[in-house]
Amino acid sequence: MSEKVIADSLAQLQKRSSSKWRFYPSDILPLPVAEMDFQIAEPIKAALHDLVERSDTGYLGPIPELKENFSGFANRKWNWILDPEQVRIACDVGVGVIEVLRTFMSVGDKLMINTPVYNNFFTWINELKLTKVEVPLKREGMHFTLDMAGIEAAYKSGVKAHLLCNPHNPVGTVYTKLELMQIAELADKYDVIVISDEIHAPLTFSNTTFIPFLAASDFSKKVGITVTSASKAFNLAGLKCATIVAQDPKLNAMLDTMPESVHFRASLFGAIADAVAYKSGDTWLDGVIATLDENRRLVADLLKAKVPEIKYRIPDCSYLAWLDVSELNLGENPAAHFIEKGKVAFNPGHTYGADYSQFVRLNFGTSPEIITDSIGRILNSL
Ligand SMILES: Cc1ncc(COP(=O)(O)O)c(C=O)c1O
Repeated sequence: MSEKVIADSLAQLQKRSSSKWRFYPSDILPLPVAEMDFQIAEPIKAALHDLVERSDTGYLGPIPELKENFSGFANRKWNWILDPEQVRIACDVGVGVIEVLRTFMSVGDKLMINTPVYNNFFTWINELKLTKVEVPLKREGMHFTLDMAGIEAAYKSGVKAHLLCNPHNPVGTVYTKLELMQIAELADKYDVIVISDEIHAPLTFSNTTFIPFLAASDFSKKVGITVTSASKAFNLAGLKCATIVAQDPKLNAMLDTMPESVHFRASLFGAIADAVAYKSGDTWLDGVIATLDENRRLVADLLKAKVPEIKYRIPDCSYLAWLDVSELNLGENPAAHFIEKGKVAFNPGHTYGADYSQFVRLNFGTSPEIITDSIGRILNSL
């Protein structure tokens, strides 16, 4: 069994300067913002120390090791064969998606998303003045998955691109190969480009298999562009680097028209850290997954014992728990209630889609003590 990665103490965490630990006053326990509370992998720390020691702090130039190492990681983890030449660099996943959309779409064009979904999908659409087409996920109990009939109807109605969250934040669904093949075939039929945000993929638990969209079928290679980063799985978001991958010559010809600045706006620190993560991060990653596996079950056990009214499905990937708190009858904004009455912060459900105000998202990428405290604070707030 892999050695678990242990979270820092609350006192250590409160000294962090990242968004999660700066946003709220110290009496509020913060469990929003998708950052983890662990120490980062030793090989990444060493590489960053080395850059600083040598004052190697300039602009990002050619970075073939990142492209090669991502290709190696994708092959090792997911049997996805890709040529390092097909890997491009961007500043982060948000910027990568925006630059890809800018290349293929014009103001007013229709972009499909599947709600509830990562809140910044909405801000990216607004930034580019695109027309949002929501095809909500189908819900069976607490299991959310793609609504193929709804997707086909929307594709038929003139959707130009589909921003897929694969695996899906916040519901924690890892899509099957069959589902991805169906999407790809439909996209080919209706001339839709699929942009697959795969930032959570390396954190897939062993009970399911993550399939990269581009590895699903020949159709997926024809219609798909993947945007991803090591930043979520290895906790490197502040370092700023992501990768964009397309395997179809026509799509790559379009991506070649992106400004050169898309590459050099990424940071040297981020690119080196991602390169090291993909090459030398497997042991640490296994340890994090072992820890998160225990944490996702701990959330279930605590809710069952303390607040059984809250509905939760143990997610198949990552460190986000999507909680249906509707039975608690907390009014329009349950997350605001938990901050005010329980001194505990989660992400409010309505930011993932208008119909999800009775949900909150809890980040369990932390210690069992903090998770336990957070559920205790929910209970105290009632
Ligand atoms: C699905 C998804 N995409 C993108 C991001 C943000 O990535 P970045 O910081 O690289 O823009 C997140 C962050 O939580 C996310 O969950």
